[in-house]
Amino acid sequence: AEVVIVRDEQEAGELAATVVADLVRRRPDAVLGLATGSTPLSTYRALAGRIAGEGLDVSRVRGFALDEYVGLPAGHPEGYRQVITREVVEPLGLTPELVRVPNGDPASIRTAAEDYDAAIRDAGGVDLQVLGIGRTGHIGFNEPGSSLASRTRVKTLTEQTRIDNARFFDSIDDVPMHCITQGIGTILEARHLVLLAFGEAKAEALAAAVEGPVSASQPGSAIQLHPHATVIADEAAASRLE
Ligand code: F6R
Repeated sequence: AEVVIVRDEQEAGELAATVVADLVRRRPDAVLGLATGSTPLSTYRALAGRIAGEGLDVSRVRGFALDEYVGLPAGHPEGYRQVITREVVEPLGLTPELVRVPNGDPASIRTAAEDYDAAIRDAGGVDLQVLGIGRTGHIGFNEPGSSLASRTRVKTLTEQTRIDNARFFDSIDDVPMHCITQGIGTILEARHLVLLAFGEAKAEALAAAVEGPVSASQPGSAIQLHPHATVIADEAAASRLE
């Protein structure tokens, strides 16, 4: 992967937003892969500024979220459907109908994963996938042990990830046990991966992703299999790189 080390999250966000804006200018109906969590927020913020400042037309941009919790009550503010609406669709002014999130409703979970992969395929694939990385090394919610060929499917979150994400909930008991996530194989089909990482807590996972052996025990290492992967990290996250 190409690694770019930046001063801070804001500079990373500006850089990633430039890459996305250039894509949308070239391809007004671009397909974006959207991560949630804290990491991409500076990118979405910078992109909103860019869209407003340059009068970029994003009405035809399409989006696919990486993942969703399974079994949260409909409309829960931390469900990724809501998060994507609040942090991405509304501030960027995307067309809501063109932005999909995996369906985490247990009632339809039997077909949700296959439907999602089919929808990505029908859209012609993802042009640019924004990624964060978990302390466990996960991309999407593909925790260690996930097949590098995996497709969108239901997974169990690790205890570590539930602890890390408890900050978004009242207590860890409210963090769902399961999720539906694009598989590693699904993610690798995106034409450009942009992985962002900030802070010392991500240093080990980032080093394993960029320089470690390609292994299902470090899902982030799958980016080494991709011909066009860009890593944008601050000094702290990059501190364990050779
Ligand atoms: C989010 C996702 C996860 C996060 C990762 C890092 O859609 O798929 O892989 O990117 O857990 O989370 P933050 O950015 O909150 O540190």
